[in-house]
Amino acid sequence: MITQLPGIRPEIALQAIPDDERVWVPQAPEVWFRPLLLNTVTGSWCNLLRVRKAGVLSRHIHPSWVTGLVLKGAWRYLEHDWVAREGSFVYEPPGEIHTLVVDEAAGAQEMVTFFNIHGAMVYVDAQGAVTAYEDVFTKIGMCRRHYEACGLGGGYVDQFIR
Ligand SMILES: [Fe+2]
Repeated sequence: MITQLPGIRPEIALQAIPDDERVWVPQAPEVWFRPLLLNTVTGSWCNLLRVRKAGVLSRHIHPSWVTGLVLKGAWRYLEHDWVAREGSFVYEPPGEIHTLVVDEAAGAQEMVTFFNIHGAMVYVDAQGAVTAYEDVFTKIGMCRRHYEACGLGGGYVDQFIR
């Protein structure tokens, strides 16, 4: 019986919220991501984002689309008047610029959200000038460096790469 076609990369099935704190990769003060799928073929990635109160995901633009599902807590964008709460689905269209915060107005101490991001996150200043970017390859690099430093080993990230 054929169970695996030639050339097909293995599936991923894992516990999304890890028991081991070291799996969370620090990204900024009070901001972490947990890689789930780092897709080098499509240039997209799936991760959990965890932000604790007073954490800020700096202002950025998405050249491609993003979807998200809030698993825990609540957060908001400084540029919008809605709050994403546990169970909320979010779609961010290409061209969207925003700054993600967990603050008094969001009304939570912490949030965990699943995000599927395509292409890149391009960080911009108030004038729209590019200050930094992230794509699936920079995310892999961040993971590898963190896992090396925390003792899991740089190769820990390989299980998420396709
Ligand atoms: Fe975003």
